[in-house]
Amino acid sequence: MNCDIERVLYTEKEIREAVKSLGERITCDYAGKAPVLLCILKGSSVFHADLMRAIDLPCEIDFLVAKSYGMSAQSSGKLRILKEPDIDIKNRDIIIVEDILDTAVTLSTLIHTLSLKEPASLKTAVFLDKNLGIKKPVKADYKCFDAENEFLVGYGLDYAERYRNLPYVGVLKKEIYTDN
Ligand code: IMP
Ligand code: MG
Repeated sequence: MNCDIERVLYTEKEIREAVKSLGERITCDYAGKAPVLLCILKGSSVFHADLMRAIDLPCEIDFLVAKSYGMSAQSSGKLRILKEPDIDIKNRDIIIVEDILDTAVTLSTLIHTLSLKEPASLKTAVFLDKNLGIKKPVKADYKCFDAENEFLVGYGLDYAERYRNLPYVGVLKKEIYTDN
């Protein structure tokens, strides 16, 4: 285990099983359709790559770049869209693929922005849903796991752009992101 990690929250095996069963659910729910799996870069890149291979449908993929955290361990509360999707979203079945639902600023902003482009349907698949003890402005339509309010890295999730390549999800040691 990486020495900056306090403990492993979800192992590679648990992740593989959860993503596989989520892919099977989406395959059933979208039977006869060709959804677009919209990856919110960069955090969702690993989840997106695994999820698309667990879906047995003629789906398409696209990418949107959004930033809310910058180089800190706290959401800035504002979202910047740095790259829009290439595909024309109008009349398509869109599934937004997001790494983690934290304050939900990212997802609620994206749902609002993408709805204006008149998709046939718009749903969300999140890898982790963090329990902040508050009611969030949006709920995920599909999710793999719940998590407590701790700072997590791995499986695409970063702190200051590091740890994305860890194959598991771990709790980052506090001393890594607090100064004292
Ligand atoms: P939200 O807009 O507050 O829901 O935050 C969503 C984004 O913040 C995610 O897409 C992540 O990139 C980032 N984020 C939130 N919590 C964590 C975490 O525990 N570790 C790493 N990134 C996180
Ligand atoms: Mg991030």
